Amino acid sequence: MSSAVRDQFNRTLHDLRISVTDRCNFRCPYCMPKEVFGPGYPFLHDPQLMALGELVRIVRAFRALGVEKVRITGGEPLLRSDVPELIRILKQELGVPDVALTTNGWLLEKMAPALRTAGLDRLNVSVDSLDDATAGRLNGQGFKVARVLGGIDAAAALGLAVKINCVVQRGVNDAELPALCEYFRARGHPLRFIEFMDVGNTNHWSRDRVVSAREIVDLVGARWPLEPIGPAYRGEVAARYRYRDGRGEIGLISSVTEPFCRDCHRARLSADGRLFTCLFASLGWDVLGCLRAGADDAELAAFLARIWQGRLDRYSDERAELLARGESRAKVEMSYIGG
Ligand code: GTP
Ligand code: 5AD
Ligand code: SF4
Ligand code: SF4
Repeated sequence: MSSAVRDQFNRTLHDLRISVTDRCNFRCPYCMPKEVFGPGYPFLHDPQLMALGELVRIVRAFRALGVEKVRITGGEPLLRSDVPELIRILKQELGVPDVALTTNGWLLEKMAPALRTAGLDRLNVSVDSLDDATAGRLNGQGFKVARVLGGIDAAAALGLAVKINCVVQRGVNDAELPALCEYFRARGHPLRFIEFMDVGNTNHWSRDRVVSAREIVDLVGARWPLEPIGPAYRGEVAARYRYRDGRGEIGLISSVTEPFCRDCHRARLSADGRLFTCLFASLGWDVLGCLRAGADDAELAAFLARIWQGRLDRYSDERAELLARGESRAKVEMSYIGG
C-alpha cells in the first residue's frame, strides 16, 4: 500500500524521472555544449552508477510513497542496453501504471521492438528541426534528422504513443515551427514546443533567445486556428491546444514565461542514485549511498519521505526575481539529472 507524502507546499510525490546515464551521443549546445562535454569530461563510471537491482529497489521505495509514473531519461537512455529489462521490471514486477521514456531518437529504430515488448507505455522524442543543417548544428554532431524520423515511424508502427519535443530558440529554429507543425500533425504526433531554459551552468542561456509560449501559440494559431484543451493529467507540464480543424494538437512547455511549480510533483534521480527535488537544484541526496550502507526497504522509503517532506523548491517561480537581483546559482547539469 502506498501513502501520499506532501512537501512544504502540500505537493504530493507522483512522478519519478530517472536518469540512467549521464552520457549522450548528441552534443546539443543548449544541453551539453561540445566545448564543455568534450574529452576529459568527468562522466560517471561504474561503480558510481546504479546497477539494475539497486535501481529497482530504489523505485520500489518510491512506489511506497505514491509514485505512479516513471520516466526514463538521461543523457541518452538508449545508450544503456539494460533499459528494456528495466522497463519490463517496472511494469511487471513493480506494477508502475505509466512508464515513459525520453530519447533523442538516434537508436530508436533498432530499440523500438524491445521497448514495445518490455511494455513501455509511451515515448517522447526530441526533434528541433527538419532541416539537416539546423538539426546537425542543434545535435552538435552534424547528424541528419532522417534517422530520428525513421525511429519515430518505427515506434509508431509498433503502436507506441509518441510525442515530439522541440526546444525553440529565437534566431535558431523559430522560423521552422510551421514546417514542424505540418509534418507532425500529418502523422498524428502531439508536438510540444519548449521554452529555452537556463538549465545547468554551461548552455549560454539568454532571455533574448527565449520565444514565449504566447508568441508560439499566436504564430501557429495564425496559420491553423487553435483552441486550448485541458491537461491530460493533473500537473501536466505542457499546456495543450488542439487545431480547430481537428487534425492534432500542440503543447507548450513554458517554464520561463508561465512557470508551473505550483503543481510540481516530480522527483529526479541521477544515474549515480542521488535524489534531486528540482531540475534547477544544486545538491542531491545520496539515496544509493543510503542503500549501499545497508538500509532496508522501509528505511529507504523513510529516508525519501523525509527529503520530500522538507522540499521547498520552486525555482521557475523565483527565476525572474533572482535574475533581476543579478543572482546566479550553481545548478546541476541537465544531462546528469535528466530533464
Ligand atoms: P509527459 O509525461 O509526456 O507530459 O512528459 P514531460 O513533458 O514531463 O517530459 P519530457 O521528458 O518530455 O520533458 C519535456 C520538457 O519539459 C523538458 O525540457 C523538461 O526539462 C521539461 N520539464 C519536465 N519536467 C519539468 C519540471 O518539473 N520543471 C521544469 N522547469 N521543466 C520540466
Ligand atoms: N531548455 C529546454 N529544454 C531543454 N532540453 C534540453 N536542454 C534544454 C534547455 N536548455 C530538452 C531536450 C529534451 C528534453 C528532455 O529536454 O530537448 O526534449
Ligand atoms: Fe543529449 Fe538530450 Fe542533452 Fe541533446 S538534450 S545533448 S540529446 S541529453
Ligand atoms: Fe518543479 Fe523545479 Fe521545475 Fe518548478 S522549476 S516545476 S519546482 S522542477
